[in-house]
Amino acid sequence: MRLSASRRTLAAASIALAGLLATAVPAAAGVSAAPATATAAAPTAAAAAPDIPLASVKGHLTQFQSIAAANGGNRAHGRTGYKASIDYVKAKLDAAGYTTAVQQFTTAGAIGYNLVADWPGGDEGQVLMAGAHLDSVASGAGINDNGSGSAAVLETALAVSRAGLRPTRHLRFAWWGAEELGLVGSKHYVGNLPGADRAKISAYLNFDMIGSPNAGYFVYDDDAALEKVFKDYFTGIGVSTEIETEGDGRSDHASFKNAGIRVGGLFTGAGRVKTAAQAQKWGGTAGQSFDRCYHSACDNTTNINDTALDRNSDAAAHAVWTLGTAVTVPPGEAYENTGDVTVPDNGPAVTSTVEVAGRTGNAPAALAVGVDIKHTWRGDLVVDLVAPDGTAYRLKNSSANDSADNVVTAYTVNASGEPANGAWKLRVQDVAAQDTGYIDSWKLTF
Ligand code: TRP
Ligand code: ZN
Ligand code: CA
Repeated sequence: MRLSASRRTLAAASIALAGLLATAVPAAAGVSAAPATATAAAPTAAAAAPDIPLASVKGHLTQFQSIAAANGGNRAHGRTGYKASIDYVKAKLDAAGYTTAVQQFTTAGAIGYNLVADWPGGDEGQVLMAGAHLDSVASGAGINDNGSGSAAVLETALAVSRAGLRPTRHLRFAWWGAEELGLVGSKHYVGNLPGADRAKISAYLNFDMIGSPNAGYFVYDDDAALEKVFKDYFTGIGVSTEIETEGDGRSDHASFKNAGIRVGGLFTGAGRVKTAAQAQKWGGTAGQSFDRCYHSACDNTTNINDTALDRNSDAAAHAVWTLGTAVTVPPGEAYENTGDVTVPDNGPAVTSTVEVAGRTGNAPAALAVGVDIKHTWRGDLVVDLVAPDGTAYRLKNSSANDSADNVVTAYTVNASGEPANGAWKLRVQDVAAQDTGYIDSWKLTF
């Protein structure tokens, strides 16, 4: 038995850590990951999320305020201000290259609308959703509740477009109707999804009230891995968070959670009162509600804490980028796939695909194949590069003596006999029992 107890423990810990995102959004084990596209300057890690401009998010809030003002003071279900809000968000997304759909439903004697926007590309079998309810209550413009979440999700979606993002997972953004009448729109969406489509949703992230004037920083704890993605962001900017407890199930994530979908989200507080301890660490006023204008006429553009809105908008983008395992596109020389693929212990070969397009002629005589495989005993692994026509180039044989961890290296392959364009695969097989691992990423540099 060559695997010592301590080594096994270490291995298990590192796999658990490295696999966190895969836990949050499970990749289909043993199945080819989504084809990746070209990356600039060959970064091996997913690109960091951009800063979401606060001014842009607030610009959307100003528009929501104007829409309310022009439509009887609110953006509530069944009122003209709601449909005008849908039209506003939809136009922005259409112009940015999204595929949008408006879904209708009827509740309380009026037609309601959900807006769903898909970013073309990514693995349709692993859909990452982010959403916010777009309706207000009838008593006001609903700028914090929930213009704030709606604007942050919109600006994140627009940032995806600006970045020309080619994420591994398919991204879908949604704005829900009639949340204030009992999560009606999101329930309608989830309830009308065919079971097969429901199963493809890796996670749903919810943003409802993220600019409360007397803000707290609350993270949903429904799913540990999703919670961690948000907490990591706030830790990185030195802001402590608490678990959201004010209204478990009181927003649209409940519709997804009830259907067995992993959920996460952010919240800065509603009617509940900020404690002295919370004011100590977050600032603001103890003994006062997080949002004194919750569900009131004064929930207007002055009812926003800019710092909270800014941080939470950036956190939303961070989560979409991180969970989408994003890769920024062209123009570039390296073609990379950063999607994790589990390599089953002593089992069948698995592959990860890199799609090369738009090149002329054959691949180079010195094709660089960058490989990053995490494994607790690299001697177990047989690794091949498989050209689009199926020709296999052996990169590495198995070896009983090769006891090191991981295969993190660059191989050079004479691929001059192969047309450059097409689906290249890294094929990895684990041929001995005990030690395990996964393809972390790999890339081709032409
Ligand atoms: N839109 C929710 C509502 O009107 C706001 C809310 C209250 C909330 N408690 C929450 C949102 C907790 C998320 C989590 O009730
Ligand atoms: Zn509300
Ligand atoms: Ca093994």
